[in-house]
Amino acid sequence: MTTAVTTAVTTIYLNGQFLPLEEARISVMDRGFLFGDGVYEVIPVYSRRPFRLHEHLHRLQASLDGIRLANPHTTREWENLILRSVELAESEDLGLYLQVTRGPGPRDHAFPKQIQPTVFILPLPLTPPAREGVESGVAAITAADNRWLRCDIKATALLPNVLLRQLSVDAGCAETLLLRDGFVSEGSSSNVFVVANGLLLAPPKSNFMLPGITYDVVLELARQEGIAHEIRPISEVELRAAGEVWITSSTKEVLAVTTLDGQPVGDGRPGPLFRRMHAAYQDYKHSVMRGKGNA
Ligand code: PDD
Repeated sequence: MTTAVTTAVTTIYLNGQFLPLEEARISVMDRGFLFGDGVYEVIPVYSRRPFRLHEHLHRLQASLDGIRLANPHTTREWENLILRSVELAESEDLGLYLQVTRGPGPRDHAFPKQIQPTVFILPLPLTPPAREGVESGVAAITAADNRWLRCDIKATALLPNVLLRQLSVDAGCAETLLLRDGFVSEGSSSNVFVVANGLLLAPPKSNFMLPGITYDVVLELARQEGIAHEIRPISEVELRAAGEVWITSSTKEVLAVTTLDGQPVGDGRPGPLFRRMHAAYQDYKHSVMRGKGNA
């Protein structure tokens, strides 16, 4: 008996062409490679429907403006490229990775005059957070936020985030929560919410954090659900005394942090507001998948 082996072919988009991942080539002189001179997005796709596409494209524009790189595509062009990438993908649920770098040129820190940006779209399969993590929560550690002062730009230069995330991997934890001058900024690859005395707290958007698309969804759902919330700086003291701590991102959705630096958060289990928010998020996501929500 023979077993049929199907090798999934990932079709990517690179500079005007859809092609198998294995055939994709970029120059070693690409400034994304040499300097991390580029920006990116991760767009969740559920049942082949991009989630919050316009919000992601809007943030991409803000990131491009932040690094002074002209957008190589109109919104309509991006939509077409993204929808085609989704059509060609094996999986119905994706974390669509999209990257624009300043492109290849002579190695000089300053921008070369004549340069063509590199545009890359990679459809990655999206697996929802593990049931265990949703039901029991995850462990996190804290670390000093030693990143630059433009964390609002979704830059491909992620070395500080990579090093900070690795600290939590080394500690057997799911995320590193970052503290700057005694206040919570965000996670190494997520935003952070805290529940203090029944009140949901979210740090205000600033140059210290990425304006998360999931962060916006969670605040919209808090409004809809009548969950009392405040957008204001969260101190380290409040974080450590919190009844609940949540992390959010396009790939993690909403997760409860139930252990922080080895100490239980609240009673060490996902709290009541987390359970309400998680249910509301799933309902919203499913309405988008059925084509009823505002995707
Ligand atoms: N990261 N903050 C940081 C530093 C992030 O890297 C991310 C997401 C977020 C959450 O943003 P959003 O809700 O829009 O996903 C906040 C993505 C998923 C990544 O780099 O893979």
